[in-house]
Amino acid sequence: MNSISLDDFKNEFDKHIICFFEEIQIEENIKEALSYSVKNGGKRLRPWFIYNFGKSEDISSENLINAGIAVEILHSSSLIHDDLPALDDANFRRGVLTNHLRFGEYKAILAGDYGFTLPLKIIMDLKDIELENKLVALRYFIEDTLKMFEGEMRDLIYEKDNLEVETSEIINMYANKTGAIFGLSFSLPFFLAGEYKLGEKMHEIGIDFGISFQIFDDLKDLLKSEKELGKDTHKDVNKKTLLNKMSSKEVKIVADNYYSRVIENLLTLNYSDMVRNLIEIRNIVESR
Ligand code: IPE
Ligand code: IPE
Ligand code: MG
Ligand code: MG
Repeated sequence: MNSISLDDFKNEFDKHIICFFEEIQIEENIKEALSYSVKNGGKRLRPWFIYNFGKSEDISSENLINAGIAVEILHSSSLIHDDLPALDDANFRRGVLTNHLRFGEYKAILAGDYGFTLPLKIIMDLKDIELENKLVALRYFIEDTLKMFEGEMRDLIYEKDNLEVETSEIINMYANKTGAIFGLSFSLPFFLAGEYKLGEKMHEIGIDFGISFQIFDDLKDLLKSEKELGKDTHKDVNKKTLLNKMSSKEVKIVADNYYSRVIENLLTLNYSDMVRNLIEIRNIVESR
């Protein structure tokens, strides 16, 4: 089964996101603030994984897109809160002002709150999915969201309390704050299709991808400009990242090792098409 390129997918997916927010009936201030952050830019990597992995399973495109919308709303909400003054205190996201600078703090907090819960309703409302499969998918959705919060807490405690942390603790924090949602994105279609064992394996592979992704994100903070990334850079000076432990050259090797492990594991599972895709998007992961 041929997969769709990230660029082509993003074009299609963004149309669905716009329709979703046109149709949904929710309190207008929440809608305005939440849709601002979800609709603005974003590489759409997580929904792209859901779509491409789901294509090999017997799940409709509509369900795959809706599952992607759910995860993208969750991810965007985590960014709304991540950018708040009390957390990373960022000014730009996806090329525009952060949510709290555009709408004020209380609206940003409430839009984020809404965006953590709305995805569960989207998954619950998917059509033609067996109830048991939906419950398994929801369980992972909830658990991975909780792991993301735990990872964010570790990230901020390490920074704000200036704690001494081991390399393994940093990797574990990455596995939670970023790995969990990639784990969810790699596995969700398999849980929805009732392929639980394969789903668990894909979940592990997705966490490795997320660790690699977060390490590249740390490198980008150091090496790229705000203009190139569309978000604040050079912000991680007090953060406990791998860059506190080793040189950027060594850090890049660690990121590459995790990336290669993802590719090897996908090859073992015969996802050669996705392997080609991952090799292709490797430069996007490193530069955007
Ligand atoms: C940024 O994620 C936050 C991290 C988890 C590192 P992305 O780089 O996927 O952000 P968007 O969705 O493209 O804006
Ligand atoms: C964001 O991590 C991860 C989550 C929001 C869960 P970062 O704080 O490292 O990401 P950026 O650099 O702000 O995008
Ligand atoms: Mg952060
Ligand atoms: Mg941040």
